[in-house]
Amino acid sequence: MEVLGEHYRTIWLNDDNWSVTVIDQTRLPHHFQLTHLSSLADAIDAISNMVVRGAPLIGATAAYGICLGLHADASLESLRNAAKGLKAARPTAVNLQRVVDDMTSLLSPLPEYERCKVAYSFAAELCDADVKTCYQIGTHGLAIIEDQWRKAKNEGLQRLNILTHCNAGWLATVDWGTALAPVYMAHNSGVPIHIWVDETRPRNQGSHLTAWELAQQGIPHTIIVDNAGGHLMQLGEVDLCIVGTDRTTRSGDVCNKIGTYLKALAAYDNDIPFYVAVPESSIDWQISDGLLEIPIEERDGREVSHIQGQAENGELQEISILGSESNISNYGFDVTPSHLVSGLISERGLCEASSYGLRSLFPERFPDYA
Ligand code: MRU
Repeated sequence: MEVLGEHYRTIWLNDDNWSVTVIDQTRLPHHFQLTHLSSLADAIDAISNMVVRGAPLIGATAAYGICLGLHADASLESLRNAAKGLKAARPTAVNLQRVVDDMTSLLSPLPEYERCKVAYSFAAELCDADVKTCYQIGTHGLAIIEDQWRKAKNEGLQRLNILTHCNAGWLATVDWGTALAPVYMAHNSGVPIHIWVDETRPRNQGSHLTAWELAQQGIPHTIIVDNAGGHLMQLGEVDLCIVGTDRTTRSGDVCNKIGTYLKALAAYDNDIPFYVAVPESSIDWQISDGLLEIPIEERDGREVSHIQGQAENGELQEISILGSESNISNYGFDVTPSHLVSGLISERGLCEASSYGLRSLFPERFPDYA
């Protein structure tokens, strides 16, 4: 995507061919700042402190984290150490666990002198594949938006209102995004869209990241507080919802940023289509029950008690917004059961949110039914 007219991915290998650069997402929307990762510890910190975030980008950063660990020491012990540290960085997005497991299986049997080179190739290919996947999700999602727009136009509407939660745009992936890829393509092909952007407390991925992304691409959008979506749906101001996912089960239950479930409930009650953009890399084929089997991250209460903003001198500042000694709970994600999801948009196309639907697109993942 373009930032101030220049094309960026969210992560790339530097000219030295071993260190990595990422966009520091903790400083957006106020400062567009790049950060250098030159060790395994840098990669782990970037993931756990949300310098990078979003399931696909966390996976890509983990891949380069393994590379950086092996660049310093290519022994088997170092590989195991990197895998353990990275997996503990964040629990919910399955991409992280999958990438680390895949790389560990690929690299462990190799002789030490080959490990690092193969790891870097794996990471580069993973990033390219992620861009392609998101592009394909975009094209499949575009068909849904065009279809909704045809209906809206027939009803005399001037624009199509789409609601999204959190950030599932290009910042959450290597490029294009998952839920926002169809939005970018619709905008590029002239569909008059307007996006309702959920603020997404406590980390404000909506108001800080999604809104910034959309503004960069010139897409009309409005930031709303997290509780406003249901009201807008009742007023007929939302035609379609599209969100991303951090982990989707083989039965189509969708785990995504906290608050997604409530939007799905409101959409269901108001008969509004609620789609989830799901790259295969975010599907956990091992589990079927999202509520029982997905580890939900609980983060520091400071994310709730404090908020970051820009002071008049341009510096970013964190201020306390709570005045008491109250207890704080800070669940990062929730699970939307499959029956509330109108459909899953994957790189292979659209399917019902169910094991039957996923089997139609990914038959190789259901060998017992072959
Ligand atoms: O806590 P985050 O910012 O890493 O949360 C992940 C997300 O960005 C969202 O849940 C998103 O909708 C899924 S990732 C494309």
